[in-house]
Amino acid sequence: MSKARHAGWRAVRRGAGLAGGDVDTVLSRSPEPFSPASSEKRAALAHFEPHNVLISRGPVRTVRRALQEQVLDSEHPVHHLADRFVPVVEEEMQHLLAGALRTGSLPWEEFLDAWYRVVRRVVFGDHARDATELTDLIIRLRRDGNWAFLKPVRRRTRARLLQRIGAELAIADPGSLAAVMAAAPKGDGAEPSDQVPQWLFAFDPAGMATFRALTVLATHPAALAEARREVDGDTSGRRVLPYLRATILESLRLWPTTPMILRQTTQPVQWEHGLMPEGCGVLVFAPYFHRDERALRRAHDVFPERWLTDEDDPWPLVPFSDGPVVCPGRLLVLLLTSAALASVVGGHELAPGSGPQLASDTPLPGTLDHYSMTLEVSKRP
Ligand code: HEM
Repeated sequence: MSKARHAGWRAVRRGAGLAGGDVDTVLSRSPEPFSPASSEKRAALAHFEPHNVLISRGPVRTVRRALQEQVLDSEHPVHHLADRFVPVVEEEMQHLLAGALRTGSLPWEEFLDAWYRVVRRVVFGDHARDATELTDLIIRLRRDGNWAFLKPVRRRTRARLLQRIGAELAIADPGSLAAVMAAAPKGDGAEPSDQVPQWLFAFDPAGMATFRALTVLATHPAALAEARREVDGDTSGRRVLPYLRATILESLRLWPTTPMILRQTTQPVQWEHGLMPEGCGVLVFAPYFHRDERALRRAHDVFPERWLTDEDDPWPLVPFSDGPVVCPGRLLVLLLTSAALASVVGGHELAPGSGPQLASDTPLPGTLDHYSMTLEVSKRP
């Protein structure tokens, strides 16, 4: 850790709370001794994916993480199935926009329906485009998950979901994530069916981040102009769109969809100021760091450029977490969401409709209710 980095972080230590440098320690020393399989998370995710990597410990965690990384192509900015995925995004977005042009408006619910069609085609293949029961089941069980220990697990519904996913893995269309999963070599205890619900569940926030980014572009003319410059000059077939990827990251910085990153110590951990016992819960509250105007340039503005230089690197901006447990789907998310933004802004004018109003000369609010948001859409001249 560089000196300047260290100094900056320590400057904000307060009371018994942990500061920026400590975030780095916790995330880089995961999964041991800072395990992501905290008691709260195990209780929440047990409702629909009891053997998922995120709540696994020991050797099976290593096996499940390796499988996730392989299928999601975690280290590659352009997933090896991008040639299939990007046209799926384009097709579904154009279908959505054709409807929006007829009414002049694009509400969140319609965007979400289209986004889930993309998700089902990417995860299972074209045959699952309209298989809404797959995503509905997970949405239902995830709602139970919010109650964690307080609600009994619906074992029959969970078994139905996992069986259904197992059947999908057996018939997955070539060129889908499920087909890659089915063909991948697997270590003992990989439990492939339990790894898939996390994908379905986690694509939901990717849709939210995209819709919020569209709202930002609709209200920030300089960012929209830069986005359009990138789309108009693109020669990568929408696979490499750094500014649009940065716009999604900025949307996730401003309104993190995983605001709380949870850990639990698996052994006592010595800190500068004392000993943290085994079994201690640790919470990294991302919005606290993401909006700290003492450490960040333009903390409450849209400033996608921050993700294109290393100036803010020392500060923990962690929408996808960081370290060995970092979200293995992050680069796939950025590929698909930036392609979705490109499909919309390339050929369409956007204006804010109903819902919370954003403006380029006003600090952005700390939360953004996307449920009530509508965008006005017209053809770009
Ligand atoms: C905007 C969308 C998403 C965000 C903001 C996000 C963020 C995160 C975060 C914060 C974690 C927790 C890491 C930790 O505890 O340190 C995580 C874990 C994970 N995410 Fe994502 N995620 C997103 C979408 C996805 C998608 C679409 C997939 C799969 C297709 C995915 C797969 C996973 C997996 C498998 C884990 C568990 C990793 C592990 O335990 O090693 N995520 N994600």
